[in-house]
Amino acid sequence: MAVVRAATELRPEVAIVAGSGLSGLGADLDDGVRLPYDTLPGWPASTVLGHAGELVVGRLGGVVVAVARGRAHLYEGRTAYDTTFGVRLMHALGARTLIVTNAAGGLNADFAPGDVMVIRDHLYLPGMAGLNPLVGPNDDAVGPRFPSMLHAYTPDLRPIARRCLADAGLAVRDGVYAMVAGPSFETPSEARYLHAIGADAVGMSTCPEVVAARHAGMRVVGLSVITNLVPIQEPHEVGGHDLHAEVLETGRVVAERLVGAVAELVRSIARS
Ligand code: HPA
Repeated sequence: MAVVRAATELRPEVAIVAGSGLSGLGADLDDGVRLPYDTLPGWPASTVLGHAGELVVGRLGGVVVAVARGRAHLYEGRTAYDTTFGVRLMHALGARTLIVTNAAGGLNADFAPGDVMVIRDHLYLPGMAGLNPLVGPNDDAVGPRFPSMLHAYTPDLRPIARRCLADAGLAVRDGVYAMVAGPSFETPSEARYLHAIGADAVGMSTCPEVVAARHAGMRVVGLSVITNLVPIQEPHEVGGHDLHAEVLETGRVVAERLVGAVAELVRSIARS
């Protein structure tokens, strides 16, 4: 925190986590200072080459924001606690609202690649199995030992997010996000299972950050870019399909509109 405070006088009101392919978020903030993660003591070093990332603090639509461009994942071998370092730092800097974005696979048959889902609730499977960022001693100064996860995705902010996304020309969905640890994608049986227990989309991030944010009392907006549909049956052809490339390509097309939508969302949030 001292490094960030020394670099800028700006105190962020809104924290943003930019997910896979969405690093256009935070690329051109006004008065922005860029702090590569490897200059921030305690930030978990990325193990994915070329994905190091940076924290940017600046103004978006006149509102001071902090944007974490790139995040740590469980599948990199990080603990759930480590993956929440950025959110905890942005909260300590003053942010009281979190906008968290990710790339996700669609499980709901009505979804199409390119849709953006406003997250209504989540299924944090690794968290239910022990990989929860709050495991260990509780910091009572931040939040309670047993935080509620009712209304984890702030109900009042979801319609605002929907409006901003629709105004930017995006196809808006609403649904439940399931987190898996990854890095392997789901088998068709796993995809059917996730759908059966209520998931509309699946990804490999976000839930630990939301749990940490809610623990600290932050308001949360979660947005999933549906980059691909998850097969629930074995396809006829064997091999040959590069799902990671599809995820990145769809993210790139939607990202441009999403950047505009998030800027508008930040303005609306600052007024609410
Ligand atoms: N599964 C899990 N995570 C993902 C996917 C998927 O299909 N697409 C993007 N992130």
